[in-house]
Amino acid sequence: MFAKRVAHLRPTGAFEFLDKAKKLEAHPSQHGTGREGKSIIHLEIGAPDFDTPDNIKDAAIKSLKNGLTKYVQGAGIPELRETIATHIAKTRNISVSPDEVVVGPGASPIIFYLILALIEAGDEVIYPDPGFFTYEPVTIFAGGTPCPVHLIEEKGFSIDLEEIKANLSPRTKLLILNFPHNPTGGMILKEDLDALVDLVRDRDIWILSDEVYSQMLYEGDFCSIASYPGMKEKTIILDGFSKTYAMTGWRLGYGVMDKELAYKVASVLIQCNSCTTSFIQPAGVEAIKGPQGIVKERLEIYRKRRDIIVDGLNSIPKIRCVRPKGAFYAFPNIKELGISSRELALRLLYEAGVCCLPGTVFGKFAEGYIRFTYSNSESNIKEALNRIKKFISKEFT
Ligand SMILES: Cc1ncc(COP(=O)(O)O)c(C=O)c1O
Repeated sequence: MFAKRVAHLRPTGAFEFLDKAKKLEAHPSQHGTGREGKSIIHLEIGAPDFDTPDNIKDAAIKSLKNGLTKYVQGAGIPELRETIATHIAKTRNISVSPDEVVVGPGASPIIFYLILALIEAGDEVIYPDPGFFTYEPVTIFAGGTPCPVHLIEEKGFSIDLEEIKANLSPRTKLLILNFPHNPTGGMILKEDLDALVDLVRDRDIWILSDEVYSQMLYEGDFCSIASYPGMKEKTIILDGFSKTYAMTGWRLGYGVMDKELAYKVASVLIQCNSCTTSFIQPAGVEAIKGPQGIVKERLEIYRKRRDIIVDGLNSIPKIRCVRPKGAFYAFPNIKELGISSRELALRLLYEAGVCCLPGTVFGKFAEGYIRFTYSNSESNIKEALNRIKKFISKEFT
């Protein structure tokens, strides 16, 4: 009845768990016993718990009041494209012109448009598994062949070059990287990045470097693959505002890429969206050009929460968790418990009142792990840890 291309598409598992949690909170009679809704600690959705800074909100309000309410340029308003070009040139140490920038309604749609613009039947796409849940379905949607590469815990979830080599073929069209990484919080090791560049520099492939967590790195400086000599031309840098500036609901993101590719990606975007919402674009300019202190302050808060959740998880029998180097996710190994990650996530939700995500939301190699987003208050994280510890001690020891 429906087109074959949508047969494999489902809402992401993150929203499935959020919906279940909301139902429990609203309808205790379904699963709880008390009159009040069940108390749930939300550690599932990858959104900052902070609010968007006021200077950014004010910029949007001002442009709305000033009448920036009509269609604007499909690839983004010139001021935002120029601001992004200057920002990416400075932070990645490359030259970027505004016509290499495409502004979109979030980073996710840029992934979608880019894959539609590049991939067709027979093309292979290499991407991390575990990995962000958009890469695979969109590849299939475009008719491409998904080639997941296993990121392993023993390597701190950096890449395994042998895995990449094993997946590279004459049909490889796109290699997707994402560091700092969702869902593991892993970061690519410098020596792995150097070796990867040597491997791909002379190949006729595109690299999508998903850098939406580039400003959420706890140790060392962020290094983009685009910064290596000869790599900018084949790399699409994906970044945005959702995570860095707590703007997930605004829907604003961007890609920086070869200008002919940018023209095609913007053409797909125009067919779909006409343009990105006009009056939020000056807020993007303000986010990048305005004071950055709050980004650093929040990173320190996330670092503290990271240490609380990782130390707490590691103190629970049969659970072990690598300390993430970036983003706001903890990805503990739960294999010793002897149940699937989905079953554990469901039981933690229904029996312990903690909502997290099963690893399998992020790919077939992610069985045996669950993901917690630590964008919640220290006290809630501590309470979640108490609940998990109590539940595991009672049920598994
Ligand atoms: C790795 C990664 N890339 C891209 C996105 C999309 O971000 P947005 O569309 O909100 O800009 C996310 C969101 O969770 C992500 O984790």
